[in-house]
Amino acid sequence: MEEKLFSLEKFDLLLDTEWIARNFIYLDEVDSTNSFLLKSKDIKINGSVALSEKQNEGRGRLDRTWLSARGLNLTFSVLFTKLKKIEKLNFLNMGSSLVVAQTLENLYALKTELKWPNDVLINKKKISGILLESVSSGSKITRVVLGIGINVNQPIFHGDFRIEPTSIKIETGNYGDKERILAEVLNRLELMIDKIDENPDSMLDDWRERCRMIGDEVEVRQNDKSKYGIFDDIDKDGNLLLKVKGKIEKINFGDISLT
Ligand code: BTN
Repeated sequence: MEEKLFSLEKFDLLLDTEWIARNFIYLDEVDSTNSFLLKSKDIKINGSVALSEKQNEGRGRLDRTWLSARGLNLTFSVLFTKLKKIEKLNFLNMGSSLVVAQTLENLYALKTELKWPNDVLINKKKISGILLESVSSGSKITRVVLGIGINVNQPIFHGDFRIEPTSIKIETGNYGDKERILAEVLNRLELMIDKIDENPDSMLDDWRERCRMIGDEVEVRQNDKSKYGIFDDIDKDGNLLLKVKGKIEKINFGDISLT
């Protein structure tokens, strides 16, 4: 497919938020939308969204890169300057992956799976990744940037990937609607943020329901080290609880895979 650039007019008609994306920055090309919002200190409006048709240095979790062809997918970031519970970044991380999963299920009837902490998988392949970053001043977090990549219309992925990528096009055979997906993700995200404030347990329950690795033997990679155990559950703060030799260990970062 030829690249089809994002239509702001179409998106605007579908956006139903009060504050998310009411300041929208459309970029043709950028290093990374996350870096852009982290660096642009003059952009202060809570809920500002930066979307780029192409990222030249798209970044993933754990210092990985995020590759996405120009004009085919969604690569965007949301800036938060006024989160009520800014310390609950785990919830934002997990709540966002839930929102992406719900959107893809709703629009394309796809069965999604969530992989701790925030990957969205379809048929064991990765359709979306999330990178949450923050800037602090002393002990206070002043900016939080939530970066989301969703593979929509890319038909082939070249490269070496830890989890094979997929897209709406690959999974359904049809082209996905970037404006509709983004609007629904952001509409749901605004509601999700209220839910995180009011009832995080219910968000965690919805997340848990889509995490099909609970109960499985997994490898948890942290930096260069690996731990092995049973993925017992997630706790009330969203940490992974790993059962190693009958004892529960709390894991708050890393990458998991089935053994
Ligand atoms: C991961 O799965 O490792 C996270 C990938 C996050 C990619 C998105 S694309 C928009 C935003 N800008 C970036 O540089 N990264 C995030």
